[in-house]
Amino acid sequence: MKTMVVQENSPLYRQKIQIGHTRTCNCKATHINCLTAKEWLKCQLGVWQFTYESRDVRDKKVHPATFPIALSKKVIELFTHQGELVLDPFVGSGTTLVAANDLNRNAIGFDLQQSYIDLCEKRLKAQANLFNKAQQIAIQDDARNIYKYIEQETISLIWTSPPYANLLNRRRKNKSRRDRNNEQLGKIEQYSQDPRDLGTMALEEYTEAMGDIYESLLPLLKPKAHCVINVPDMWWEERSINYFFLYGHAMLN
Ligand SMILES: C[S@@+](CC[C@H](N)C(=O)[O-])C[C@H]1O[C@@H](n2cnc3c(N)ncnc32)[C@H](O)[C@@H]1O
Repeated sequence: MKTMVVQENSPLYRQKIQIGHTRTCNCKATHINCLTAKEWLKCQLGVWQFTYESRDVRDKKVHPATFPIALSKKVIELFTHQGELVLDPFVGSGTTLVAANDLNRNAIGFDLQQSYIDLCEKRLKAQANLFNKAQQIAIQDDARNIYKYIEQETISLIWTSPPYANLLNRRRKNKSRRDRNNEQLGKIEQYSQDPRDLGTMALEEYTEAMGDIYESLLPLLKPKAHCVINVPDMWWEERSINYFFLYGHAMLN
């Protein structure tokens, strides 16, 4: 495995990145993944269940909103072949890069916060494997600049869990926690207060910014590539917000 970090003082900052993006497997050209028919059928179940593993980041003080490696692996396995390229525009603690590395896929992840990019690097270094040829690159930059780094028609899958507008900019009530009175109660667990951080934006500004980001990513996708976005429904000021429709709207306009 090769791991690389790009940040403001790196020679590769806002330059085109050289990274593998073609299949290294022997699958038939018409197959959309390397799974067997049996494995594919199992994935068609409507509800997926996962267990955490020791490499997962579950400490909210380290990162407030990570997804499990197992979820990330399932999505990558479903929509890519070995050797292809995965992009996570909001990579956070680097879960997508860890999962892609396990599965021998190349991946590039972006995050605005240097501390999260450092965390990505630490997690990847902890699982360095000489026999794995996949390359993982973590880049500290605004997702609005992704198109400056990636060649057109090279990405097979965009997979991410984005910030959900300013959802985290409020004190936690711990309604979904078994132990409500834990140390998180009443705390604001936000990524940052950087004005470029999508997690600080009100819904309208956020929707517009997301629409612009995904529009700039479109030319980077290979024909028939996939885009998977992990989104919740939520309540905000007595209003039910359905992110699925919100994204559909942002992407079509
Ligand atoms: C939900 S988290 C991603 C967590 C990730 N799936 C994981 O498992 O660690 C969203 C991330 O988006 C980042 N972010 C917010 N605004 C951004 C922007 N404009 N450009 C790039 N990253 C941004 C935040 O710093 C945060 O780490």
